[in-house]
Amino acid sequence: MRAVLALLGVCFSASSILANQPPTFTKDVAPILWNHCASCHRPGEIGPFPLLTYQDAAKRAKFLVDVTESRRMPPWKPAPGHGKFQDERRLGDAELATLAKWAQAGAPEGDAKDLPKMPSFPEGWQLGTPDLILKMPESFTVPAEGRDLLQCFVIPMGLQKDQMVAAWEFRPGNRKVVHHAILYTDHTGQARLRDRLDPKPGYQSFGGPGILPSGGLGGWAPGSTPRFLPDGTGKFLRNGSDLVLQIHYHPNGKEEIDQSQVGIYFVKKPVKTIVGGIALRSRNILIPPGKADYTIRTESDPLPADAYAIGIAPHMHYIGKSVKVTAHKPDGSEESLLWIPEWDFNWQGAYAYEKPVKLPKGTVVKLEAIYDNSENNPFNPSHPPKLVKWGEQTTDEMCLLGIPIITDSTADLRKIMSMSSNRLASVLMGAPNQETLDRIQSESGASHANSATPPAGMPIPERFQRLFKRYDKNNDGRLSTEEIDAMPEVLRNRIKQRLENPATEKPN
Ligand code: HEC
Repeated sequence: MRAVLALLGVCFSASSILANQPPTFTKDVAPILWNHCASCHRPGEIGPFPLLTYQDAAKRAKFLVDVTESRRMPPWKPAPGHGKFQDERRLGDAELATLAKWAQAGAPEGDAKDLPKMPSFPEGWQLGTPDLILKMPESFTVPAEGRDLLQCFVIPMGLQKDQMVAAWEFRPGNRKVVHHAILYTDHTGQARLRDRLDPKPGYQSFGGPGILPSGGLGGWAPGSTPRFLPDGTGKFLRNGSDLVLQIHYHPNGKEEIDQSQVGIYFVKKPVKTIVGGIALRSRNILIPPGKADYTIRTESDPLPADAYAIGIAPHMHYIGKSVKVTAHKPDGSEESLLWIPEWDFNWQGAYAYEKPVKLPKGTVVKLEAIYDNSENNPFNPSHPPKLVKWGEQTTDEMCLLGIPIITDSTADLRKIMSMSSNRLASVLMGAPNQETLDRIQSESGASHANSATPPAGMPIPERFQRLFKRYDKNNDGRLSTEEIDAMPEVLRNRIKQRLENPATEKPN
């Protein structure tokens, strides 16, 4: 007992000596800033100033303490204990204390020889040179003023065979106006047609991509980290697909030009499972002005097969206040998949689980989203608050959730993709739709010998066959750009409308 006490005594005195010695930049603070802050706070990244050198840090010592103690920085919204994620950006208590003591002691620099080697931050592509680089074919001009724009750019990928994607990376061309991006794919030529019908580069589409996409890769928002999918999985890219890059632009008071690009990394080893998705949404949103806790609850059907969540991404706009996602399992247990107690529109991300989370067959995924439309909400874009409806503008609200999943087999994935509550998974998150899955299954993933160009033109919807027949000059059941150009204006507008409302076109 005595020995233990003596030992404790020694420890105490040793640590109090350490405690009396203030932390220094070179020894204690630099590693914290380099590990937790410099990914954004270095030249060319999104942080408003670099945090690399002693000078960078010392002149803001107090400020760094404020933003870290309040947990504003590093920006990381999920609450601990509700899902375990890769690259969690959270400072430990010891690190917070080090920063505080260092600032209190007057931000001493310390001995130059204590300074570790600064990590090298890769310039350009974070995951290395991509196998395929897809750049917007033309630059897009974002006007100085006006509403937010959602523009879709159609980029041919030139794939000669079906491919599995292990990772992708989005590099915004102009960080001042690129608010977020979603990557869809289309092999039907519908996106090309929409592009054709819209005079500007790309085409405008609020909401989804304005077509029924064949698949997709995911979304990007400032601060998101590109990463490889778990081994043995991949996202399916069909031969001949176009990338449909939907970018949300936020005018910033000055005319700006953007030409963003996407890097694709293909899977190098055989894939066991394809990535699909579970999507939830509610459009039933009507938030009275002043209401501080407007709550939306929505849930999936019981899953018809086992699934494994590999990530999770909720989406709301400015007056979102909190969001909670729970898996209710068939054995009666519950597992919290994500809780964001203080929603922040500017820091919404797609979070990747450290390990896939099993959602056994029969699990119901439940979403609870709370909105604060009171005057007290500093993020409320309307003063005084006004009635807020569902919509795409940032002053409207949305309630969406996407969960990328893997399964034990393509047959299981197909079951999940055809759940009636999951109808919009392919539209909202670009998961492979049933047609794609049927095709993969029937060919057991064998690469396809199609030409690499998507079939010219859009398939003609069943109930419009008669109407469009005489414009389908070559009788292939599709309308090519030439055939469309030859049509009267009113019919072209009909096509545009049909393309714009794909979800109503294909109820399943
Ligand atoms: C994922 C990117 C990212 C990381 C990581 C990050 N920051 Fe930031 N930081 C930003 C951005 C963007 C802003 C400007 C917008 C804002 O204030 O939210 C910012 C703003 C700041 C500000 C100014 C706040 C203000 O009110 O003007 C400070 C100070 C700061 N960061 C410190 C830190 C520190 C310290 C760390 C690490 C412990 C860190 N940041 C990590 C992106 C990041």
